[in-house]
Amino acid sequence: MTTGRYVTFEGIEGAGKSTVAALAAERLRDVGMSVVEVREPGGTTAGEQIRSVLLDGDAHLEGWTEALLFAAARAQLAAEVIKPALMSGSWVVGDRSVYSSLAYQGGGRRLGIEAVEAINRQGLGDVWPDHVVLLRIDASTGLDRQDVEDRIGSEGAEFQSHVAEAFDLLAKLEPDRFTTVEASLPLDHVLDEVMRGLLGVSR
Ligand code: TYD
Repeated sequence: MTTGRYVTFEGIEGAGKSTVAALAAERLRDVGMSVVEVREPGGTTAGEQIRSVLLDGDAHLEGWTEALLFAAARAQLAAEVIKPALMSGSWVVGDRSVYSSLAYQGGGRRLGIEAVEAINRQGLGDVWPDHVVLLRIDASTGLDRQDVEDRIGSEGAEFQSHVAEAFDLLAKLEPDRFTTVEASLPLDHVLDEVMRGLLGVSR
């Protein structure tokens, strides 16, 4: 049986990953793929409730509380949506994934990449992104481009640069899984590079 591929778009605030993820999903459909789009945190009833605790609430969250809530929302999404989609042969295009937790909680919050990976593995089972598209942008440019600030997005430039460093490290550790694209390039160019990374072609 053929299973689909799980692709995720990652980057710091203002990298434009939501826009690029949606356009890449469209291009994949254009070449005949069945595509399911998901965003994190969220994408399930429980996950959207957890999202609002994480992003909209004014309660103080300890670093590990935050990491565990992201992992909980993700476990639900993997079981309810991602795994069934992959099993049915669809591609899954994620706007963020476990790699955001590795960079934001592991790097940004200083919890450690390996420790954050460990708390995510159990809930994900064998669901793990096959391909990670990292949209790179300078931390201060990203913050200028950011449209809506949430609890984590408002952490400031130093936090953003720790997150960016962690993403770069992850890309270096897993060069076969990552396609890294400069987000400051024109959108068409970014998209062509993304598709080359995903399919080995530009269209
Ligand atoms: P998102 O909804 O993608 O918003 P943005 O458009 O700002 O990227 O992500 C919400 C925030 O949650 C963003 O600041 C990144 C953060 N985040 C984490 O810290 N860890 C995670 O595991 C995920 C999925 C997101």
